[in-house]
Amino acid sequence: MKTIDELLVESHSSLREALKVIDRNMRGICLVTEAGKLVGIASDGDIRRFLLQHEDLERPIRDAMNREFIALPVESDDRLIRHTFHSRLKLIPLLDIEGRVVDVADVQRSHRIPVLEPELSGNELKYVQDCVTTTWISSQGKYVSRFEEMFEEMHPGMNALAVCNGTSALHLALEALGVKSGDEVIVPNVTFAASVNAILYCQATPVLCEIDPLTWCLDVNEAEKLITPKTKAIMPVHLYGQVSQMDELRSLAQAHNLLIIEDCAEAIGSKLRSQPVGTFGDAATFSFFGNKTISTGEGGMVLFKSFDVAQRARILRDHGMDPNKRYWHNIVGFNYRLTNLQAAVGVAQLERFPLILKRKRDIATSYHKKLSKVKGIAKLPSEATEVLHSNWLFTLILEDKFNRDKVMQQLILHGVDTRPVFYPMHQMPPYQTLRTSESLQHSNHISAYGLSLPSSVTLKDDDIDYVVKILENTLEEQSA
Ligand SMILES: Cc1ncc(COP(=O)(O)O)c(C=O)c1O
Repeated sequence: MKTIDELLVESHSSLREALKVIDRNMRGICLVTEAGKLVGIASDGDIRRFLLQHEDLERPIRDAMNREFIALPVESDDRLIRHTFHSRLKLIPLLDIEGRVVDVADVQRSHRIPVLEPELSGNELKYVQDCVTTTWISSQGKYVSRFEEMFEEMHPGMNALAVCNGTSALHLALEALGVKSGDEVIVPNVTFAASVNAILYCQATPVLCEIDPLTWCLDVNEAEKLITPKTKAIMPVHLYGQVSQMDELRSLAQAHNLLIIEDCAEAIGSKLRSQPVGTFGDAATFSFFGNKTISTGEGGMVLFKSFDVAQRARILRDHGMDPNKRYWHNIVGFNYRLTNLQAAVGVAQLERFPLILKRKRDIATSYHKKLSKVKGIAKLPSEATEVLHSNWLFTLILEDKFNRDKVMQQLILHGVDTRPVFYPMHQMPPYQTLRTSESLQHSNHISAYGLSLPSSVTLKDDDIDYVVKILENTLEEQSA
């Protein structure tokens, strides 16, 4: 109760005493009581204005306090509390039935809307329980094969292998396709570092390519200019659920005899002319990390067009062990397997995938509608007519008069968690030497002004309203 006591002052106390209370609690405010009941609130500003008129520190605080104040019953739910806050109201007293202050909500302590959180309300627990009951908790078991089969059904023509995360999926794809030292792989300059790291694991050279200002994915024209005799593959990354320009990239790959490895970590469910991402190239990878559209905690999937390459990858995934001769290794492999426990969660998630995808898209539609008239936003995510954007993470670009990080700080004060766009790869120490010339203005720009909003499928419609309201207020305040 210390925090509450620190805020309280009795109505007959002098302004001097009230100012001391405010000074000690460092909240800029005191709660005024009479016989234990809240009767008013006084901020240091209220007292200052009163003193300028009356110049008497010994007057009682009840003369200076605000009798019209906002308070809520202590049993109010989080959402009501969050919606009651506005830009100048930072603290809400919570009262019992007698009108006594029993708690306070402040913007920093009230519930936060996370950027992304998993939704596990289907058969997840039941299937995990099944693994535990049957003791099939390791990397063999029916859920691993079921998870792979479901993925193949969703991605016709591809051979699926479940792996322990999206990074190992990328590494396995590159290794199985024979990417090695001396090879170059063209990869977008704005992506999660794992795309680039996986290329480096193979001792190959990542070639950082500028992004397209509309899609924020690989700029095909630049990619073409970056092709050399050493280029072995192109790795488009479908950023935030957007679809890279696959028709153009496929033509480019065909003309130059290059492999395509799609990084679909953020784009499960995205489509181009009804064709799912992950089916356009020689291999494709997915991540099921906790924040992804479907999650297994940690987990990944790799798809191969060629059955033979998939077979090679299966051996590589399993320590390089000969499948027909136990403990005999013809090649050096890895342990990149997914457990049955994780796959059990994945199967349950995929069972509800149409619903999950629909909710992601509805959230994006709602943001689009509500943000279209908000001043201060330079760009909302684009969706070409033939693209189905899975909207993993709703991301917008602020006008460049804003300090994006300051906007984020203000949003979190109001319980809205947000995420900056990735740093461009070429700015970070391990990758600086990969791109030394030419400006990368689009990468720099989207990275400096890009902001991702809460996008979980658990988001309620009034959460979206709240996020939009807080963003709008913040941009208004900070544009002054
Ligand atoms: C574009 C991209 N590629 C690869 C990965 C790596 O996946 P994981 O975290 O499952 O290793 C991620 C995300 O985490 C990603 O966003």
